[in-house]
Parts: sequence; C-alpha cells; structure tokens
Amino acid sequence: MLILLEHPLLTHKLTQLRRKETTTKDFREIMEEIAGLMAYEVTKDLPLKSVTITTPMAECQTRDLATDIVLVPVLRAGLGMVDGITKLIPTARVGHIGMYRDHRTLEPLTYYTKFPDNLADAIVMVLDPMLATGGSSGSAIQVLKDNGAKTIKLVCVVGVPEGVKKIGHDHPDVQIYLAALDEKLNDNGYILPGLGDAGDRLFGTS
Ligand code: PRP
Ligand code: URA
Repeated sequence: MLILLEHPLLTHKLTQLRRKETTTKDFREIMEEIAGLMAYEVTKDLPLKSVTITTPMAECQTRDLATDIVLVPVLRAGLGMVDGITKLIPTARVGHIGMYRDHRTLEPLTYYTKFPDNLADAIVMVLDPMLATGGSSGSAIQVLKDNGAKTIKLVCVVGVPEGVKKIGHDHPDVQIYLAALDEKLNDNGYILPGLGDAGDRLFGTS
C-alpha cells in the first residue's frame, strides 16, 4: 500500500530539492531534512511497551519504543537519508545494500550487502530517494527477506506509478512511503519531472 506524505513542509523542501540550481551542499542538507520529516510519519505506528521510570519528582508509568529499528540505505543515494532519521532514532542500527542500475537494461546489480543481526525481530526501513522502475527497491526488499527480515517499510522521496505497482505486486506486505508521486519515466528510466540523478546530485558526481 502507498502512503503519500504531503505535509506542506515536505512539499516545500521537495520543491527546493527538485530545482536544478540547488547545490550539492544544499541538496544534501535538504535530503536529510526530508528524511527526518518523513520518519515522523513512517514511525507513527511503532509499537510501544509499558515502562516505569523515575522523574525528579515521582515514579512514572509511561511507554517506550518496544522494537528494534534497522535502517537500510540503498547505496549510493539512500545514504543521504540516514542521518535525518538517526537524529530522531539514535538507537537505530544501520545495514547497507550496494546496488546500481545497469544503464542499458535498467536491471539492478547488487555489489555489497552488510546487515545487523536479527533482522527478523526488527522493523526494517529501506531508504532510497528514487522509486523509478522499482527494480532496485524490489531487489533490496528481496535480499532483506532472504536475510530474515519480516517487517519492511520502503521509504522513498519521489516515485512513479510504475515503481509503486511493481512493489505492490512483488511485495504486497511492504508499506511504501513517498513525499511525491510523479508522472512517469522517460526512455532512460529517469523520473519526470523528478529531480535528476539522486546519487550524482548528492555526491557531486556526473
Ligand atoms: C538510483 C536510485 C535508485 C534507483 C532507482 O540508483 O538511487 O536506487 O536508481 O531506480 P529503479 O527504481 O529503476 O531501480 P543508481 O542506479 O543511479 O545508483 P547510484 O545511487 O549509485 O547512482
Ligand atoms: N534514479 C535516479 O537517481 N533518478 C531517477 O529519476 C531515476 C532513477
């Protein structure tokens, strides 16, 4: 299922991110801010457990997070989303998947994986700003399932209906979060209007 997060602040920051004149420095900062704002919504159904703590005044029955959270950025561009979320959830553990699209076939090629232990008991958030054909996110989700992950959320910034449809078909159990659903892909698999090549803009490559 798709959850489109259209908070005015998110939309405002995404407009800045999309502008072609936005510098690498600003692109990085805005991407981090967007990830933090999205995290607020993505985490709103996290389970809580009862705890008893002591304030300076008295004992207090309250609640605390009951689950382990694992962030898995898809390299490279997903790296730009990590810090915005770990600022809010500093206890989150972080795995990595290195993946790039073959420019001719658009098929994702995996070149690196490293995950924390015990994915089965964690809520795993796959981070990738771009959901284009859905090939990269779909493969990342499959790799995580093969490594034991059971509860997976896909957090992207910009997507298109093609990618949403593919993830919905191949991984109906995975909740998809987007800050914008764009129109379509061009012939080279880039999102229109999109924001260009997220990895290149984030790291100043071309
Ligand atoms: C981009 C982006 C996604 C993927 C999306 O990565 O960060 O991972 O493309 O496209 P898809 O939905 O069609 O698979 P890219 O392959 O450019 O690698 P990079 O981040 O290392 O530049
Ligand atoms: N990957 C990107 O970085 N941008 C797109 O528009 C599509 C895939």
